[in-house]
Amino acid sequence: MGSMDVRIEALRSIPLFANLDEGDLSDIAGLLIERKFPRDAVIFEEGTLGDYMYLIQDGQVKVTKMSEDGREKILEIFGAGDFFGEMSLLDREPRSASIKTTQACVLLALSRQDFLGLLRNSPEVCMQVVHELSRRVREADEQIRALLFERVEGRTRQILRRMAREEAPGHPDRRATDAITHQQLADLVGTSRETITRVIKELKHEGWLQQSGKQYLVPVADADPR
Ligand code: CMP
Repeated sequence: MGSMDVRIEALRSIPLFANLDEGDLSDIAGLLIERKFPRDAVIFEEGTLGDYMYLIQDGQVKVTKMSEDGREKILEIFGAGDFFGEMSLLDREPRSASIKTTQACVLLALSRQDFLGLLRNSPEVCMQVVHELSRRVREADEQIRALLFERVEGRTRQILRRMAREEAPGHPDRRATDAITHQQLADLVGTSRETITRVIKELKHEGWLQQSGKQYLVPVADADPR
């Protein structure tokens, strides 16, 4: 597949393009530029100028902000079907956060001009973007609440609940997170790796949390998928 020749099938699994017909998808496919990145690559840094937004065809990225002393806060982890980098195209401000790959990625880049054109021409795509931005503000509100009012254990539960979106084979009563390291969990919760290791042990001991490889299994009643 050439870099400009994004296949229509690849676009069908992207929620942003749900409800679009074959003709629309084929037009959009012509605008998207496929870009591959290895794991741990910087897609862009906070504060730089934005010219493209990205759809994740495959892989995983983290959205991060840095403290002055170099600690990293992960705001969100995005996977296949998600999009990022839309904000600075919409408001022409610098990038609000950095984006780094946590797995090898296939991204589909869309230029500012083409993204804005798509929003103007397709009410369906526009509504999907607005819906997703609303979901993200809700999520950010919940993070603000948890950071102010919860201790590390409560925040860890909250992050794990939010990330537990997959079916867990063999565990009908649980939902699984993506594979995630203690360091990533610490950077999401806003604490040290050592503290996370202790809290994870406690949550397992109490029976609330189970682990399968690097995936965490949360009771289905507590999981709050999108
Ligand atoms: P932009 O500001 O262009 O570049 C950084 C991107 O990170 C931003 O667009 C959004 O796509 C994404 N982003 C920033 N803040 C959040 C957040 N709180 N939750 C989810 N995604 C975010």
